[in-house]
Amino acid sequence: MILVTGGAGFIGGNFVLDWLKVPENEGIINLDKLTYAGNLATLDSLKKDQRHIFIHGDIGNQALVTKLLNDYQPRAIINFAAESHVDRSIHGPAEFVNTNIVGTFNLLECARKYWNSLQEKAKVNFRFHHISTDEVYGSLSATDPAFTETNPYEPNSPYSASKAASDHLVRAWFHTYGFPVVRTNCSNNYGPYHFPEKLIPLVILNALNDKLLPIYGDGQQIRDWLYVGDHCSAIREVLTKGKLGETYNIGGWNEQANIDVVKTICRILDKLKPRADGQSYDQQITFVKDRPGHDRRYAIDASKVERELGWRPAETFDSGIRKTVQWYLDNPVWIEGVVSGSYRDWLQKQYN
Ligand code: NAD
Ligand code: TYD
Repeated sequence: MILVTGGAGFIGGNFVLDWLKVPENEGIINLDKLTYAGNLATLDSLKKDQRHIFIHGDIGNQALVTKLLNDYQPRAIINFAAESHVDRSIHGPAEFVNTNIVGTFNLLECARKYWNSLQEKAKVNFRFHHISTDEVYGSLSATDPAFTETNPYEPNSPYSASKAASDHLVRAWFHTYGFPVVRTNCSNNYGPYHFPEKLIPLVILNALNDKLLPIYGDGQQIRDWLYVGDHCSAIREVLTKGKLGETYNIGGWNEQANIDVVKTICRILDKLKPRADGQSYDQQITFVKDRPGHDRRYAIDASKVERELGWRPAETFDSGIRKTVQWYLDNPVWIEGVVSGSYRDWLQKQYN
Protein backbone atom coordinates (compact mmCIF):
# COMPACT_ATOMS: atom_id res chain seq x y z
CA MET A 1 0.00 0.00 0.00
CA ILE A 2 0.89 3.65 -0.23
CA LEU A 3 -0.63 6.32 2.02
CA VAL A 4 -1.79 9.46 0.23
CA THR A 5 -2.96 12.47 2.24
CA GLY A 6 -5.28 15.08 0.71
CA GLY A 7 -6.35 12.64 -2.01
CA ALA A 8 -9.84 14.14 -2.31
CA GLY A 9 -8.39 17.48 -3.38
CA PHE A 10 -7.40 18.67 -6.83
CA ILE A 11 -3.87 17.28 -7.30
CA GLY A 12 -4.18 14.42 -4.80
CA GLY A 13 -7.45 13.31 -6.46
CA ASN A 14 -5.87 13.33 -9.92
CA PHE A 15 -2.90 11.40 -8.53
CA VAL A 16 -5.11 8.71 -6.94
CA LEU A 17 -7.17 8.31 -10.14
CA ASP A 18 -4.07 8.07 -12.36
CA TRP A 19 -2.32 5.64 -10.01
CA LEU A 20 -5.25 3.26 -9.76
CA LYS A 21 -5.70 3.23 -13.55
CA VAL A 22 -2.68 0.92 -13.61
CA PRO A 23 -3.89 -2.54 -12.51
CA GLU A 24 -0.44 -3.62 -11.24
CA ASN A 25 -0.07 -0.64 -8.90
CA GLU A 26 -0.59 -1.30 -5.22
CA GLY A 27 -3.58 0.05 -3.29
CA ILE A 28 -3.96 3.49 -1.76
CA ILE A 29 -5.06 4.53 1.70
CA ASN A 30 -6.42 8.01 1.14
CA LEU A 31 -6.51 10.15 4.30
CA ASP A 32 -8.43 13.38 3.80
CA LYS A 33 -10.17 15.78 6.17
CA LEU A 34 -12.72 16.78 3.51
CA THR A 35 -12.39 20.50 4.02
CA TYR A 36 -14.30 22.73 1.56
CA ALA A 37 -11.59 21.74 -1.00
CA GLY A 38 -11.98 17.98 -0.53
CA ASN A 39 -14.59 16.33 -2.67
CA LEU A 40 -15.49 12.65 -2.70
CA ALA A 41 -17.29 13.07 -6.02
CA THR A 42 -13.84 13.31 -7.62
CA LEU A 43 -13.28 9.70 -6.53
CA ASP A 44 -16.71 8.39 -7.59
CA SER A 45 -15.25 6.12 -10.27
CA LEU A 46 -13.32 4.23 -7.54
CA LYS A 47 -16.39 3.21 -5.53
CA LYS A 48 -16.00 -0.42 -6.54
CA ASP A 49 -12.20 -0.48 -6.56
CA GLN A 50 -11.08 -2.33 -3.45
CA ARG A 51 -7.56 -0.96 -3.84
CA HIS A 52 -8.87 2.44 -2.73
CA ILE A 53 -9.46 2.85 1.01
CA PHE A 54 -10.79 6.26 1.94
CA ILE A 55 -10.29 7.46 5.52
CA HIS A 56 -11.98 10.66 6.64
CA GLY A 57 -9.53 12.31 9.03
CA ASP A 58 -6.88 14.89 9.81
CA ILE A 59 -3.12 14.55 9.25
CA GLY A 60 -2.82 16.29 12.63
CA ASN A 61 -4.54 13.39 14.43
CA GLN A 62 -1.68 11.43 15.96
CA ALA A 63 -3.72 8.44 17.12
CA LEU A 64 -5.42 8.03 13.75
CA VAL A 65 -2.24 8.40 11.68
CA THR A 66 -0.35 5.96 13.93
CA LYS A 67 -3.15 3.41 13.68
CA LEU A 68 -3.30 3.71 9.87
CA LEU A 69 0.44 3.22 9.55
CA ASN A 70 0.46 0.19 11.84
CA ASP A 71 -2.64 -1.39 10.29
CA TYR A 72 -1.75 -0.92 6.61
CA GLN A 73 2.09 -0.84 6.73
CA PRO A 74 2.48 1.47 3.70
CA ARG A 75 5.80 1.51 1.86
CA ALA A 76 5.44 5.23 1.11
CA ILE A 77 3.57 8.35 2.18
CA ILE A 78 2.78 11.15 -0.27
CA ASN A 79 1.71 14.28 1.57
CA PHE A 80 -0.61 16.42 -0.57
CA ALA A 81 -2.85 17.53 2.32
CA ALA A 82 -2.75 21.28 2.79
CA GLU A 83 -4.67 24.48 2.86
CA SER A 84 -3.73 25.68 -0.62
CA HIS A 85 -5.37 28.98 -1.54
CA VAL A 86 -3.36 32.21 -1.16
CA ASP A 87 -6.46 34.45 -0.94
CA ARG A 88 -7.96 32.35 1.86
CA SER A 89 -4.61 32.48 3.70
CA ILE A 90 -4.85 36.27 3.65
CA HIS A 91 -8.35 36.21 5.18
CA GLY A 92 -7.56 33.50 7.74
CA PRO A 93 -4.00 32.22 8.19
CA ALA A 94 -4.60 30.06 11.28
CA GLU A 95 -5.76 26.94 9.40
CA PHE A 96 -2.66 27.22 7.19
CA VAL A 97 -0.43 27.05 10.26
CA ASN A 98 -2.47 24.19 11.72
CA THR A 99 -2.54 21.94 8.68
CA ASN A 100 0.52 22.90 6.67
CA ILE A 101 2.96 23.22 9.56
CA VAL A 102 1.59 21.41 12.61
CA GLY A 103 -0.14 18.73 10.51
CA THR A 104 3.04 18.02 8.53
CA PHE A 105 5.00 17.90 11.78
CA ASN A 106 2.58 15.33 13.19
CA LEU A 107 2.71 13.24 10.03
CA LEU A 108 6.52 13.29 10.07
CA GLU A 109 6.70 12.24 13.70
CA CYS A 110 4.16 9.41 13.33
CA ALA A 111 5.90 8.25 10.15
CA ARG A 112 9.35 8.37 11.76
CA LYS A 113 8.21 6.17 14.66
CA TYR A 114 6.60 3.75 12.22
CA TRP A 115 9.72 3.72 10.00
CA ASN A 116 11.92 2.99 13.02
CA SER A 117 9.79 -0.05 13.78
CA LEU A 118 10.20 -1.55 10.28
CA GLN A 119 12.40 -4.51 9.35
CA GLU A 120 15.63 -3.56 7.56
CA LYS A 121 14.43 -4.14 3.97
CA ALA A 122 11.15 -2.27 4.44
CA LYS A 123 13.06 0.48 6.21
CA VAL A 124 15.46 0.93 3.30
CA ASN A 125 12.61 1.03 0.77
CA PHE A 126 10.37 3.46 2.68
CA ARG A 127 9.78 6.99 1.28
CA PHE A 128 8.10 10.14 2.61
CA HIS A 129 7.30 12.37 -0.37
CA HIS A 130 6.34 15.93 0.52
CA ILE A 131 4.44 17.92 -2.11
CA SER A 132 5.30 21.61 -2.13
CA THR A 133 5.14 24.71 -4.24
CA ASP A 134 7.33 27.16 -6.15
CA GLU A 135 5.76 29.93 -4.06
CA VAL A 136 8.26 29.25 -1.24
CA TYR A 137 10.97 30.94 -3.36
CA GLY A 138 9.16 34.29 -3.41
CA SER A 139 8.67 36.56 -6.39
CA LEU A 140 10.82 37.11 -9.51
CA SER A 141 11.32 40.27 -11.54
CA ALA A 142 10.74 40.10 -15.30
CA THR A 143 14.43 39.47 -15.99
CA ASP A 144 15.41 37.16 -13.10
CA PRO A 145 16.34 33.58 -14.01
CA ALA A 146 13.74 30.93 -13.12
CA PHE A 147 13.81 29.30 -9.65
CA THR A 148 16.28 26.48 -9.20
CA GLU A 149 16.40 24.15 -6.20
CA THR A 150 19.14 26.32 -4.64
CA ASN A 151 17.17 29.57 -4.65
CA PRO A 152 16.79 30.98 -1.12
CA TYR A 153 13.36 30.66 0.46
CA GLU A 154 11.56 34.04 0.48
CA PRO A 155 7.85 33.27 0.99
CA ASN A 156 5.54 36.29 0.85
CA SER A 157 2.04 35.05 1.73
CA PRO A 158 0.76 33.18 4.78
CA TYR A 159 0.20 30.21 2.43
CA SER A 160 3.74 30.16 1.04
CA ALA A 161 5.24 30.84 4.49
CA SER A 162 3.40 27.83 5.90
CA LYS A 163 4.54 25.63 2.99
CA ALA A 164 8.12 26.89 3.43
CA ALA A 165 7.98 25.96 7.12
CA SER A 166 6.75 22.46 6.27
CA ASP A 167 9.56 22.06 3.71
CA HIS A 168 12.10 23.00 6.37
CA LEU A 169 10.67 20.41 8.76
CA VAL A 170 10.88 17.71 6.08
CA ARG A 171 14.47 18.69 5.28
CA ALA A 172 15.45 18.65 8.96
CA TRP A 173 13.91 15.18 9.51
CA PHE A 174 16.25 13.88 6.79
CA HIS A 175 19.36 15.57 8.11
CA THR A 176 18.74 14.94 11.79
CA TYR A 177 17.10 11.52 11.85
CA GLY A 178 18.09 10.09 8.47
CA PHE A 179 14.35 9.85 7.75
CA PRO A 180 13.97 9.00 4.03
CA VAL A 181 12.33 12.03 2.41
CA VAL A 182 12.04 13.47 -1.08
CA ARG A 183 10.44 16.84 -1.87
CA THR A 184 8.96 18.33 -5.00
CA ASN A 185 8.25 22.04 -5.49
CA CYS A 186 5.84 22.55 -8.32
CA SER A 187 4.49 25.52 -10.25
CA ASN A 188 0.78 26.35 -10.72
CA ASN A 189 -1.32 23.36 -11.79
CA TYR A 190 -4.51 23.33 -13.85
CA GLY A 191 -6.78 20.57 -15.13
CA PRO A 192 -9.85 18.51 -14.20
CA TYR A 193 -11.35 18.55 -10.68
CA HIS A 194 -9.83 21.96 -9.84
CA PHE A 195 -11.87 23.79 -7.21
CA PRO A 196 -13.28 26.97 -8.81
CA GLU A 197 -11.72 29.41 -6.35
CA LYS A 198 -8.46 29.28 -8.36
CA LEU A 199 -7.99 31.42 -11.46
CA ILE A 200 -8.52 28.95 -14.32
CA PRO A 201 -11.64 27.06 -13.13
CA LEU A 202 -13.10 30.29 -11.70
CA VAL A 203 -12.82 31.99 -15.08
CA ILE A 204 -14.31 29.04 -16.98
CA LEU A 205 -17.32 28.80 -14.66
CA ASN A 206 -17.88 32.55 -14.38
CA ALA A 207 -17.75 32.85 -18.16
CA LEU A 208 -20.36 30.14 -18.63
CA ASN A 209 -22.58 31.64 -15.93
CA ASP A 210 -22.53 35.11 -17.48
CA LYS A 211 -20.51 36.56 -14.59
CA LEU A 212 -17.54 38.91 -14.61
CA LEU A 213 -14.02 37.49 -15.01
CA PRO A 214 -12.03 39.17 -12.21
CA ILE A 215 -8.39 40.01 -12.95
CA TYR A 216 -6.36 41.25 -9.99
CA GLY A 217 -4.40 44.47 -10.51
CA ASP A 218 -3.04 44.91 -14.05
CA GLY A 219 -3.20 41.20 -14.96
CA GLN A 220 0.50 41.16 -15.86
CA GLN A 221 1.49 38.77 -13.07
CA ILE A 222 3.18 35.70 -14.47
CA ARG A 223 2.65 32.08 -13.46
CA ASP A 224 4.28 28.93 -14.93
CA TRP A 225 1.32 26.64 -15.65
CA LEU A 226 1.58 22.84 -15.59
CA TYR A 227 -1.14 20.35 -16.52
CA VAL A 228 -2.03 18.33 -13.42
CA GLY A 229 -1.51 14.95 -15.15
CA ASP A 230 2.08 16.00 -15.82
CA HIS A 231 2.56 16.91 -12.16
CA CYS A 232 1.29 13.43 -11.22
CA SER A 233 3.71 11.74 -13.62
CA ALA A 234 6.59 13.78 -12.16
CA ILE A 235 5.62 12.69 -8.64
CA ARG A 236 5.64 9.03 -9.72
CA GLU A 237 9.14 9.48 -11.19
CA VAL A 238 10.50 11.17 -8.08
CA LEU A 239 8.88 8.63 -5.77
CA THR A 240 10.51 5.78 -7.69
CA LYS A 241 13.86 7.26 -8.70
CA GLY A 242 14.39 10.42 -6.63
CA LYS A 243 17.48 10.64 -4.46
CA LEU A 244 16.85 10.70 -0.71
CA GLY A 245 16.99 14.12 0.89
CA GLU A 246 16.78 15.86 -2.48
CA THR A 247 14.27 18.39 -3.72
CA TYR A 248 13.12 18.56 -7.35
CA ASN A 249 11.50 21.57 -9.00
CA ILE A 250 8.59 20.59 -11.27
CA GLY A 251 7.27 23.03 -13.85
CA GLY A 252 5.70 23.41 -17.25
CA TRP A 253 8.25 25.63 -19.05
CA ASN A 254 5.18 27.71 -19.67
CA GLU A 255 5.16 31.25 -18.32
CA GLN A 256 1.97 33.20 -19.00
CA ALA A 257 0.60 36.53 -17.81
CA ASN A 258 -2.79 36.15 -16.09
CA ILE A 259 -4.54 38.34 -18.64
CA ASP A 260 -3.27 36.11 -21.47
CA VAL A 261 -4.47 32.95 -19.70
CA VAL A 262 -7.93 34.46 -19.31
CA LYS A 263 -8.07 35.62 -22.94
CA THR A 264 -7.03 32.13 -24.11
CA ILE A 265 -9.87 30.58 -22.11
CA CYS A 266 -12.29 33.10 -23.64
CA ARG A 267 -11.14 32.22 -27.16
CA ILE A 268 -11.57 28.48 -26.54
CA LEU A 269 -15.04 29.00 -25.08
CA ASP A 270 -15.97 31.26 -28.01
CA LYS A 271 -15.43 28.23 -30.25
CA LEU A 272 -16.76 25.43 -28.03
CA LYS A 273 -19.77 27.21 -26.53
CA PRO A 274 -20.39 30.61 -28.17
CA ARG A 275 -22.29 33.22 -26.18
CA ALA A 276 -25.93 33.62 -27.21
CA ASP A 277 -25.29 37.23 -28.33
CA GLY A 278 -22.36 36.20 -30.56
CA GLN A 279 -19.92 38.41 -28.59
CA SER A 280 -16.65 37.08 -27.18
CA TYR A 281 -16.46 36.01 -23.55
CA ASP A 282 -13.63 38.53 -23.16
CA GLN A 283 -16.39 41.18 -22.81
CA GLN A 284 -16.80 39.79 -19.29
CA ILE A 285 -13.21 40.57 -18.22
CA THR A 286 -12.99 43.09 -15.39
CA PHE A 287 -9.99 44.44 -13.49
CA VAL A 288 -10.45 44.33 -9.71
CA LYS A 289 -8.49 45.36 -6.62
CA ASP A 290 -5.11 43.61 -6.47
CA ARG A 291 -4.30 40.87 -3.97
CA PRO A 292 -2.24 42.26 -1.04
CA GLY A 293 1.43 41.31 -1.45
CA HIS A 294 0.71 39.79 -4.87
CA ASP A 295 3.82 37.99 -6.17
CA ARG A 296 4.71 39.34 -9.61
CA ARG A 297 6.27 36.35 -11.30
CA TYR A 298 6.93 32.65 -10.66
CA ALA A 299 8.99 30.53 -13.05
CA ILE A 300 10.43 27.09 -12.48
CA ASP A 301 13.69 25.81 -13.88
CA ALA A 302 12.80 22.12 -14.16
CA SER A 303 16.11 21.02 -15.68
CA LYS A 304 17.27 19.00 -12.65
CA VAL A 305 14.34 16.58 -12.77
CA GLU A 306 14.83 16.23 -16.53
CA ARG A 307 18.61 15.72 -16.29
CA GLU A 308 18.55 13.31 -13.35
CA LEU A 309 15.24 11.48 -13.75
CA GLY A 310 14.32 12.03 -17.40
CA TRP A 311 10.97 13.76 -16.69
CA ARG A 312 9.46 16.43 -18.93
CA PRO A 313 5.83 17.54 -19.23
CA ALA A 314 3.84 15.80 -21.98
CA GLU A 315 1.18 18.49 -22.48
CA THR A 316 1.68 21.91 -24.03
CA PHE A 317 -0.39 24.74 -22.57
CA ASP A 318 -2.45 24.72 -25.74
CA SER A 319 -3.37 21.02 -25.46
CA GLY A 320 -3.79 21.09 -21.67
CA ILE A 321 -6.02 24.14 -21.50
CA ARG A 322 -8.28 22.82 -24.29
CA LYS A 323 -8.69 19.51 -22.43
CA THR A 324 -9.42 21.41 -19.24
CA VAL A 325 -12.09 23.69 -20.71
CA GLN A 326 -13.71 20.68 -22.40
CA TRP A 327 -13.68 18.79 -19.08
CA TYR A 328 -15.59 21.61 -17.35
CA LEU A 329 -18.12 21.63 -20.19
CA ASP A 330 -18.56 17.86 -19.89
CA ASN A 331 -18.90 17.62 -16.10
CA PRO A 332 -21.84 19.73 -14.89
CA VAL A 333 -22.71 17.25 -12.13
CA TRP A 334 -19.27 17.54 -10.48
CA ILE A 335 -19.48 21.32 -10.78
CA GLU A 336 -22.97 21.42 -9.29
CA GLY A 337 -21.62 19.48 -6.30
CA VAL A 338 -18.86 21.96 -5.50
CA VAL A 339 -20.64 25.28 -5.95
CA SER A 340 -22.54 24.91 -2.70
CA GLY A 341 -23.53 27.52 -0.12
CA SER A 342 -20.01 27.79 1.32
CA TYR A 343 -18.61 28.43 -2.15
CA ARG A 344 -21.10 31.24 -2.73
CA ASP A 345 -20.16 32.71 0.68
CA TRP A 346 -16.51 32.71 -0.41
CA LEU A 347 -17.28 34.54 -3.67
CA GLN A 348 -19.25 37.13 -1.74
CA LYS A 349 -16.44 37.66 0.77
CA GLN A 350 -13.63 37.80 -1.80
CA TYR A 351 -15.28 39.62 -4.74
CA ASN A 352 -18.12 41.38 -2.93
P1 NAD B 1 -6.59 21.35 -2.61
O1 NAD B 1 -6.87 22.51 -1.71
O2 NAD B 1 -7.38 21.18 -3.85
O3 NAD B 1 -6.72 19.99 -1.79
C1 NAD B 1 -6.21 19.83 -0.49
C2 NAD B 1 -6.81 18.56 0.08
O4 NAD B 1 -6.25 18.37 1.39
C3 NAD B 1 -8.33 18.61 0.24
O5 NAD B 1 -8.91 17.42 -0.19
C4 NAD B 1 -8.53 18.79 1.75
O6 NAD B 1 -9.74 18.23 2.22
C5 NAD B 1 -7.31 18.06 2.29
N1 NAD B 1 -6.92 18.52 3.63
C6 NAD B 1 -6.81 19.81 4.06
N2 NAD B 1 -6.42 19.84 5.35
C7 NAD B 1 -6.26 18.54 5.73
C8 NAD B 1 -5.87 17.92 6.94
N3 NAD B 1 -5.56 18.65 8.03
N4 NAD B 1 -5.81 16.57 6.99
C9 NAD B 1 -6.14 15.83 5.89
N5 NAD B 1 -6.53 16.35 4.73
C10 NAD B 1 -6.58 17.71 4.65
O7 NAD B 1 -5.03 21.47 -2.93
P2 NAD B 1 -4.24 21.04 -4.24
O8 NAD B 1 -4.28 22.16 -5.20
O9 NAD B 1 -4.67 19.68 -4.64
O10 NAD B 1 -2.76 20.97 -3.64
C11 NAD B 1 -2.22 19.75 -3.12
C12 NAD B 1 -0.81 20.00 -2.66
O11 NAD B 1 -0.01 20.48 -3.75
C13 NAD B 1 -0.70 21.07 -1.57
O12 NAD B 1 0.27 20.65 -0.64
C14 NAD B 1 -0.25 22.32 -2.31
O13 NAD B 1 0.51 23.15 -1.46
C15 NAD B 1 0.61 21.70 -3.39
N6 NAD B 1 0.71 22.47 -4.65
C16 NAD B 1 -0.41 22.91 -5.29
C17 NAD B 1 -0.30 23.60 -6.50
C18 NAD B 1 -1.51 24.06 -7.26
O14 NAD B 1 -1.34 24.75 -8.30
N7 NAD B 1 -2.71 23.70 -6.89
C19 NAD B 1 0.98 23.85 -7.04
C20 NAD B 1 2.11 23.38 -6.35
C21 NAD B 1 1.97 22.69 -5.16
P1 TYD C 1 -4.41 31.30 -8.10
O1 TYD C 1 -5.09 30.39 -9.05
O2 TYD C 1 -5.12 31.72 -6.85
O3 TYD C 1 -2.99 30.65 -7.78
P2 TYD C 1 -1.70 31.30 -6.98
O4 TYD C 1 -2.10 32.50 -6.25
O5 TYD C 1 -1.32 30.17 -6.07
O6 TYD C 1 -0.67 31.56 -8.05
O7 TYD C 1 -4.02 32.61 -8.90
C1 TYD C 1 -3.25 32.56 -10.09
C2 TYD C 1 -2.98 33.99 -10.51
O8 TYD C 1 -4.22 34.58 -10.91
C3 TYD C 1 -2.44 34.84 -9.39
O9 TYD C 1 -1.52 35.79 -9.94
C4 TYD C 1 -3.66 35.59 -8.88
C5 TYD C 1 -4.53 35.74 -10.12
N1 TYD C 1 -5.98 35.76 -9.90
C6 TYD C 1 -6.75 36.77 -10.49
O10 TYD C 1 -6.24 37.66 -11.19
N2 TYD C 1 -8.10 36.75 -10.27
C7 TYD C 1 -8.70 35.81 -9.49
O11 TYD C 1 -9.96 35.88 -9.30
C8 TYD C 1 -7.92 34.76 -8.92
C9 TYD C 1 -8.54 33.70 -8.08
C10 TYD C 1 -6.54 34.77 -9.16
